[in-house]
Amino acid sequence: MANTYKDKARELMKGFCRVCPVCNGKACIGEVPGMGGLGTAASFHNNMSALAAVTLNMTALHGVTAPDTATSFLGIPLSFPVIAAPIGGAQFNMSPGFSEETYIESVLGGFEAEGSIGCTGDGVPAFIIDAACASLARHKGIPFIKPWEGKELDEKIERVLACDPPAIGMDVDAAGLVTLRKMGRPVTPMAPATLQRVIDSVHAKKKPFIVKGIMTPSDAEKAIEAGADAIVVSNHGGRILDHCPGTAAVLPAIAARVRRRISIAVDGGVRTGCDVVKMLALGADVVLIGRPVSVAAVGGEMEGVRAFCQTIRQELTQAMLLTGCARVADISAEILWK
Ligand SMILES: Cc1cc2nc3c(=O)[nH]c(=O)nc-3n(C[C@H](O)[C@H](O)[C@H](O)COP(=O)(O)O)c2cc1C
Repeated sequence: MANTYKDKARELMKGFCRVCPVCNGKACIGEVPGMGGLGTAASFHNNMSALAAVTLNMTALHGVTAPDTATSFLGIPLSFPVIAAPIGGAQFNMSPGFSEETYIESVLGGFEAEGSIGCTGDGVPAFIIDAACASLARHKGIPFIKPWEGKELDEKIERVLACDPPAIGMDVDAAGLVTLRKMGRPVTPMAPATLQRVIDSVHAKKKPFIVKGIMTPSDAEKAIEAGADAIVVSNHGGRILDHCPGTAAVLPAIAARVRRRISIAVDGGVRTGCDVVKMLALGADVVLIGRPVSVAAVGGEMEGVRAFCQTIRQELTQAMLLTGCARVADISAEILWK
């Protein structure tokens, strides 16, 4: 299935994504909209190089024979520590003929069938959130909304809360999307007091809140102060601000500051089960994967997404075996070569 869905995706995503052997942002520099990184794509490239710079201590002299990849995030059981990142805009980022409904249904349905969960994105046009809510009514999923200015924020929160998801997130780094402002739908940086008000309103409905787009220990502290239950260390896959460091480079300092006070997710350049192990060893509880999931969804719909999950889980099991980790909780900085 893996090769078939990639061939199909290459055909359907022509002009948007070349479906390279390794999705590293080199062939799609500046292609936003599209699947690339913004500007010089330095932030996308830094995600890749920061992860590549991390290496693992291999060990085969131990008693671990069948690693257990199961874990949980914010009380949500996961068969492996990988969640589909929120991605919206299939028609203008991936393939004009591919509907938002089929896209998000493939992602949420595929991850759910494999024992994990996917996230939904937000933006303009409205069909992104419409498709997300329709799919959230059928599948478990975590909606991420943008930091809208004014009443649109409260309306969107109400709307996704009505889908009864296990958690709600906000990609606060989308404050950099000038495109939305130009379309008359402004997003804005979140003053901590505003963020706290939003989080309070979500907590009032007994749902945990995730802040996505944290790149510094001080922003992680601010998210905690505002009441967040989890953060996603993320530079939005390099699509928001050029010349950010890679997430694997900033994660250890953030984890050192806030670990055990808040759940930590991370994304950016995760492509293999080895990358998942690296991110967990650097301090994350779970990882999100973006573009490769989109390729699987466009090329193979729900079955493609399931095949992608199975490959990552198999690679993860292998990486845990050869780093001597019986359980996800055993993955620590000890397995990193220094
Ligand atoms: C086409 C595209 C659309 C995206 N849309 C959203 C979105 O609506 N909300 C969001 O929080 N992040 C969005 N992201 C960012 C992803 O959630 C994630 O942070 C990023 O893709 C992770 O990097 P990776 O693709 O290298 O795995 C988008 C990314 C891409 C490539």
